[in-house]
Amino acid sequence: MSDSQTIKNVHIVLAHPEAKSFNAQLSHTSQRVLGAGGCKATLSDLYAMDFDPREGPQHYSSRKDSEVFHAQTEQRYNADNATIPGDVNLEVEHLLDCDLLVVHFPLWWFGMPAILKGWMDRVFVYGKMYRSVMRYDAGICSGNKMIACVTTGASEDSCSYNGREGDTQLHLWPLLFPFRYLGFDVLEPEVFHGVGGVAFVEGHEIGLSALDTYSSRWTETLETIASRPLVQYNRDTDYDDTKRLLPDAPVYSPFIRQNPDAV
Ligand SMILES: Cc1cc2nc3c(=O)[nH]c(=O)nc-3n(C[C@H](O)[C@H](O)[C@H](O)COP(=O)(O)O)c2cc1C
Repeated sequence: MSDSQTIKNVHIVLAHPEAKSFNAQLSHTSQRVLGAGGCKATLSDLYAMDFDPREGPQHYSSRKDSEVFHAQTEQRYNADNATIPGDVNLEVEHLLDCDLLVVHFPLWWFGMPAILKGWMDRVFVYGKMYRSVMRYDAGICSGNKMIACVTTGASEDSCSYNGREGDTQLHLWPLLFPFRYLGFDVLEPEVFHGVGGVAFVEGHEIGLSALDTYSSRWTETLETIASRPLVQYNRDTDYDDTKRLLPDAPVYSPFIRQNPDAV
């Protein structure tokens, strides 16, 4: 691929229970396209790995407080003592190694599947992946890119700014913000709308032709990833000491705005 000089290590995360799904097939496209041209491409197929998305005491044999489970306390304690749970540690290593993170998921109830949310809850380890002085512009993944490849069942029209489903770009903002929190340069997400049932089964000609179309579009995106625009976020210097936006700072999203009444 043309960006192989800049991107050497790619990590792909897939959150879908079905190997014949659009999402699984698109993740194969990621592996194939990014794997070509010398990139190392690794995959975390969360369902296939049976990744446990539930953060909780069951994962910690070593505890700072054995009476009361407080997730950030135990994450920090185990990060400091190099005793992060093994399944989490593997994911952390992938995140720290990769120049490009690709996350594939279907939109489920206007959010991400629970397994992916739980992956973030456990893998974005306090003390290892972020601290008060190590987040946003100073995040541990600064300089590395991430892109989400998302499918929706609803049509492009109904997911647009004035569509009945609500603007998918706005729904995605809080889902992608944790990656910005870790310091990633978040690329504009790829969203494939109107994706129906099973994609990759003989007899599902409509699904197969849509998959061909989307797979080609996704291939093109991956091959031109170096010129993909970034989602714009305020810089750390755009905030005052109370962490409120400075009056002359730019506004990039309705989630962080100058005028609270702006619609
Ligand atoms: C639990 C669940 C919730 C869903 N919520 C939404 C939704 O909020 N918006 C939407 O457009 N489609 C929704 N869908 C449809 C899926 O997004 C769609 O089936 C998927 O993107 C198709 O890709 P796949 O073949 O990889 O599963 C939902 C599906 C499920 C199973």
